[in-house]
Amino acid sequence: MAAIDSFEFLLKEILQVFSTGRDAFAILGAVYTASKAISISRCILTALNDHFLSRLRRQSDLKTKFGRWAVVTGSSEGIGKAYAQELASHGVNIILISRGERRLFKTAKEIEEQFHVETCCIAADFSKGMEIYAKVMKAIGDKEVGILVNNVGVMYDYPQLFLDVPAERLWQLIHINVAAATMMTHGLLPQMVQRKRGAVVMVSSGACSQITPQMTIYAATKSFLDYFARSLHYEYKSKGVLVQSLMPFYVATRMTQYSETLSCTNFFIPTASGYARSAVSTLGVSSRTSGFFPHTIMSWIANLVPEGMWMWGSSRLNEALRAQALHRLKQQSAGRLAQSASDQALDIIDSGTSTPS
Ligand SMILES: NC(=O)c1ccc[n+]([C@@H]2O[C@H](COP(=O)([O-])OP(=O)(O)OC[C@H]3O[C@@H](n4cnc5c(N)ncnc54)[C@H](OP(=O)(O)O)[C@@H]3O)[C@@H](O)[C@H]2O)c1
Repeated sequence: MAAIDSFEFLLKEILQVFSTGRDAFAILGAVYTASKAISISRCILTALNDHFLSRLRRQSDLKTKFGRWAVVTGSSEGIGKAYAQELASHGVNIILISRGERRLFKTAKEIEEQFHVETCCIAADFSKGMEIYAKVMKAIGDKEVGILVNNVGVMYDYPQLFLDVPAERLWQLIHINVAAATMMTHGLLPQMVQRKRGAVVMVSSGACSQITPQMTIYAATKSFLDYFARSLHYEYKSKGVLVQSLMPFYVATRMTQYSETLSCTNFFIPTASGYARSAVSTLGVSSRTSGFFPHTIMSWIANLVPEGMWMWGSSRLNEALRAQALHRLKQQSAGRLAQSASDQALDIIDSGTSTPS
């Protein structure tokens, strides 16, 4: 009898422990679910505000809010050119900086004619290192720069493993993607702080939302920009300067031309001007954004997928994109060979007919 009593007592005690444990688990589950629900709602509300509500509100005049001039690096084509055009459509004067003078002047002329603003062209190669910045700052002179768009950036010719990228290209990536944004910001931030207004945009990339193999150094430079923007925003927002980390996923530009898939625009791959229109509407609204609603959906997915799965998926995608790029290069070189063979044949025919008989 005593043995049965003590067994029942033991069972009761165990069940009580389990029911207390069950309650604890239930509370933990409820807290976890509530925190997830809050963070999902916050994501959705932020996206709604950045991409839709901000457009409904009357956007304050960018010129009055930040300053008369904007500097856009890498602005002779692609996202930089489109961003410069979009700012010009708000009446902001534009300072364009790129390497190729001809393209630069052509873009500046188009902007002046279309938007009736002033432009200033500075031909500079950001891969050259420190010595160019004094020249660039001198050319900017005492213009009231209210917006700096650190857009210039380069990728590899196509996705590749680290050791397959030429050392010279890696060095260029560091100079162009990292050093240019750092030095341009260092040169122009003081006048914004002095006037207590201004905006700096760092064009980072969705490629750094998660670890993206086969774009390793490119994505690492973009992570640098994202970190730089977020920390700088915290340091200078109280001084009137807003810093935005802009993280686009694929946009159809010269940079993505290596792939047939990425060259075709669709819901997720906008044109540079479609992207820039949306991105400029987030300026002064969000300090960290993809700049384009479909890209925000992509960033949600990127953040939900476990890291290992993301790396596996992006590796497979980059292998497929590399295969497309190599196929394209092969076709182009076959085309060039055929062209030079036909040129040679024409030369022979020409020399044959021009020989006096
Ligand atoms: N396209 C995308 O899918 C994508 C996605 C995420 C992030 N991004 C970022 O967005 C930015 C713009 O990309 P994009 O696609 O518009 O590139 P893009 O079409 O290749 O245009 C690059 C611009 O930068 C200039 N540039 C290149 N090298 C330069 C150098 N050494 N010195 C000075 N200027 C230079 C180019 O003009 P010159 O050649 O005449 O110098 C051109 O105006 C980059 O930072 C890129 O990383 C792009």
